[in-house]
Amino acid sequence: MKVDVILGLQWGDEGKGKIVDVFTPHYDIIARFQGGPNAGHTIEFDGKKFVLHTIPSGIFHRSTLNLIGNGVIIDPFIFIKEIDKLKEAGINAQENLLISSRAHFILPTHRLLDAVSESKKGHAKIGSTLKGIGPAYTDKYARNGLRVGNMKDENFMECYRILKEMHLRIITSNNANLSELTLDELSFEAYEEKWFESINKMKSFRIVEGEQFLNRSLDEGKSVMAEGAQGSLLDVDFGSYPFVTSSNTIAAGACSGLGISPHRIGKIYGIFKAYCTRVGSGPFPTELLDETGETLRKNGNEYGSTTGRPRRCGWLDLPALKYAIMLNGVDSLIMMKADVMNTFKKIMVCNNYKTGNQVLDEFPFDLSDKTLEPIYQEMNGWNQSLADVTSLDNLPEAIANYIRFIEKETNCPIDIVSLGPDRVQTLKR
Ligand code: GDP
Ligand code: IMO
Ligand code: MG
Repeated sequence: MKVDVILGLQWGDEGKGKIVDVFTPHYDIIARFQGGPNAGHTIEFDGKKFVLHTIPSGIFHRSTLNLIGNGVIIDPFIFIKEIDKLKEAGINAQENLLISSRAHFILPTHRLLDAVSESKKGHAKIGSTLKGIGPAYTDKYARNGLRVGNMKDENFMECYRILKEMHLRIITSNNANLSELTLDELSFEAYEEKWFESINKMKSFRIVEGEQFLNRSLDEGKSVMAEGAQGSLLDVDFGSYPFVTSSNTIAAGACSGLGISPHRIGKIYGIFKAYCTRVGSGPFPTELLDETGETLRKNGNEYGSTTGRPRRCGWLDLPALKYAIMLNGVDSLIMMKADVMNTFKKIMVCNNYKTGNQVLDEFPFDLSDKTLEPIYQEMNGWNQSLADVTSLDNLPEAIANYIRFIEKETNCPIDIVSLGPDRVQTLKR
């Protein structure tokens, strides 16, 4: 058996949560491979809405196991809050959730370091989610991190204390005052206390060697879907650096983030919105700072699932999409939120970039280059509700044409079109 991968092709929030949930009945295991609680994956069904940050999006299907992979970083406080929210809705996530012993912890001081780093950067700030992502991955690669598999160790507290003190030295050397800093409206001490309470609760979860579990399951013929977080343009190597997250969001990240060989990768599904959004700072060539951008935000309810910040909106960016398809080796495209453009008479698509009179034939190194301009092609909008459409074969001509155009430009089939946030608002080939 192979591991299929599902990941975002833009700047995150493409609708990964919804589609993973739709796919879950076809898989025995869903495994998140990177990122942390910077992610917000939304799932809607039966009039209910859930936003997951650390827990894989297959959790609502009781017969599918969900693994938090070694590549994920976990804030116990946020994780247990998520677990409790599910409990309130009658879902006992503990039953079908496994956590890799090799996943790293986000410490309370990682979150403080994130805030200090952002405030030091001033206008150049990344616009991070302030969940401690950058500092926690930094410690992982600097070989200072604390891992899930260590939480029952006798010297866990001592290791925590050493790392915390190292962080506090950095924080105070940046003239930040610990007593004035808060985390989710709690004082540092109150947050830290809850963090340890949460660690204690985590001890009752099923901690496994995720890589052993997955490879064994594959040998036994089990089907696995790897769930990405963020999007390819936020990848630490290939995204719009430095305005990126701190992990490899691309398909290759599934191998290192789960402990599976590239040989074991199966089909790669790439998700994109019919337009583009971005939350946080950084270049966004097709951003619309006008009324059309407002309309996309309003129709698409484009506000961050994790931070509530308004998302920046713009037209579909084909050079960026093609670049992401290349990096990931996407086999199958999934187009989300087409319904958001139902009222548009005309739609623009960026099909190239230029600097001066020169059309670029490659995706540029520096997306912040001020001379970079998108070249747009105008297309007819469908300008009608798609609520009654039940099949990809009877779409109105204008949207069918939009789909064909994207397929031709990207040389990749669009096999699923999503027309609303609910599970059932999904058209498949
Ligand atoms: P993720 O991070 O990729 O899982 O995406 P988010 O959950 O952060 O953001 C996607 C948002 O769009 C969520 O609020 C979803 O409920 C919503 N959504 C997903 N698919 C569709 C769709 O086809 N149409 C509309 N209108 N909303 C959608
Ligand atoms: P999902 O999985 C959208 C963005 C932040 C910021 C940059 C770095 O829901 O698609 P970080 O906190 O990672 O250091 O922030 O990345 N970002 C996301 N944007 N969706 C996400 O996740 C994101 N996770 C991080 O806004 O610009
Ligand atoms: Mg999201």
